[in-house]
Amino acid sequence: MNFLEEAVTRARRALLAAPPTSQWVQVATLGPEGAARVRTVVLHEIGDDGTLSIATDDASEKVRALRQDPRAEVLLLSREHLEQWRFSVRFEIVDAKAPEQDERRALWKRMPPREKGYYVSPPAGRDRSSYPASAFHAEAHEPEPVERFVFLRGVPHAIDLLDVSRTPHDRFIYSGGADGPWSRRAVTP
Ligand SMILES: Cc1cc2nc3c(=O)[nH]c(=O)nc-3n(C[C@H](O)[C@H](O)[C@H](O)COP(=O)(O)O)c2cc1C
Repeated sequence: MNFLEEAVTRARRALLAAPPTSQWVQVATLGPEGAARVRTVVLHEIGDDGTLSIATDDASEKVRALRQDPRAEVLLLSREHLEQWRFSVRFEIVDAKAPEQDERRALWKRMPPREKGYYVSPPAGRDRSSYPASAFHAEAHEPEPVERFVFLRGVPHAIDLLDVSRTPHDRFIYSGGADGPWSRRAVTP
């Protein structure tokens, strides 16, 4: 097993330990003035190549930030396995105009109607009083992705695992990417 495969296998175990709560991760981006911004999202999948699949709204602040600077960190805390996984990624924004429509459609189709409801309701952070209650939808059942739906594809170049389930704690930094081989370094926790 190579190092990327090792990290992916183990991170998936953490991700799927107690869905959906084990899939709630934090994504940190850089705001327009260089200040950090962090928020919770659902991490739908970790691909064999370590790619992180996240669904979001084209009208959101995070997409605006990522169009300016695609560097980000995704933090997965496993309460079940007592592990912290920090993924350093570059996000590719697969919006309605991107060529990768098969991947975008596949993610839309696997999302539950409740999660899709977000994309047919007013975007986050707007003045609530300017929308009638009827503008907010608990569910959406559109068979095809709606315009605002964006698939964020996070391509990792480093994965930092801190395992606090044992003492002394273990910490490994996996790094690689851009088609090169991945390495693993043990570091102090
Ligand atoms: C449990 C939970 C899950 C969430 N999942 C998502 C998600 O998958 N995608 C998303 O865009 N926002 C999700 N949100 C909302 C975000 O945290 C955030 O409020 C919203 O995306 C707007 O963020 P932004 O203004 O930084 O772009 C979730 C929030 C919570 C509390």
